Amino acid sequence: MGILSRLLDLRGPASARSCSLEPFQSSDNPSGNTGSTEFEVDGWVTSAFVAQTLVLLVGVHPFPLLELMLMTATVCRLQPPLIFEWGTNIGKSARLFHEIAQYFRIKTTVHTCDLPDDVDHVEHPHAQRGAMVRGLEGGQLHQGDGLTTSLGLWEQAGRPPSPLFFLDGDHSHASVRREIDGILAVVPDPVLLLHDTFLQSSDSGYNTGPRQAVEETLAAHPGRFQAVHLGLSLPGMSFLYPFTPQRA
Ligand SMILES: C[S@@+](CC[C@H](N)C(=O)[O-])C[C@H]1O[C@@H](n2cnc3c(N)ncnc32)[C@H](O)[C@@H]1O
Repeated sequence: MGILSRLLDLRGPASARSCSLEPFQSSDNPSGNTGSTEFEVDGWVTSAFVAQTLVLLVGVHPFPLLELMLMTATVCRLQPPLIFEWGTNIGKSARLFHEIAQYFRIKTTVHTCDLPDDVDHVEHPHAQRGAMVRGLEGGQLHQGDGLTTSLGLWEQAGRPPSPLFFLDGDHSHASVRREIDGILAVVPDPVLLLHDTFLQSSDSGYNTGPRQAVEETLAAHPGRFQAVHLGLSLPGMSFLYPFTPQRA
């Protein structure tokens, strides 16, 4: 599809098309220049999907538009065979990953994990756990510690390359640091998306612990990752992906 046709793409929102029996799927993978060193997707394709499908399903809270764009771009570009995410809470992020994979026909399984019901956590969803993904194909709900459970599942699956980890559990510096370090100790080429990493100066009173944990990781592993930080607004998201030198 050329630029002009994209600008004139007036098919309307997914809700307006929902009378169709066709599943919402696209054969266009928006990745561009896949042999080059820099991350690239076609932002017109991902924008249309986010605006016409994702926003209607999940809204823009807790993930603003630019975070929905990054989650979509990550899955399309890196096509992870497995997605591990925690915490599940009501299942918004798990639902997002499910919808992205479905629409762009990416073969993956979404494993989502939240704490057991008897563990006390201020954000624990209890009966609402995973409400937005229950019964969907291609997704699996788990209970336990997100890091330990996910690494166990990755081992059981035969340690496939380039799994995606979405860290959205406890947002203390120590927790995020433990989770990143735990992944990096055993997975050679993980792709990491981390939520709540917005950086602001200390006068704001914001929790900048997650971003601090990310910066410490980048400093401890020079050259291992390329990093993208969404810096315009709370809650913020950071994306770390393995650096791949340009092919000859
Ligand atoms: C901000 S909410 C996650 C929102 C969710 N991703 C969504 O999109 O709906 C944080 C969740 O992390 C869970 N959590 C906290 N520590 C965890 C851990 N170590 N392992 C798994 N889940 C954890 C909490 O119970 C809570 O449900």
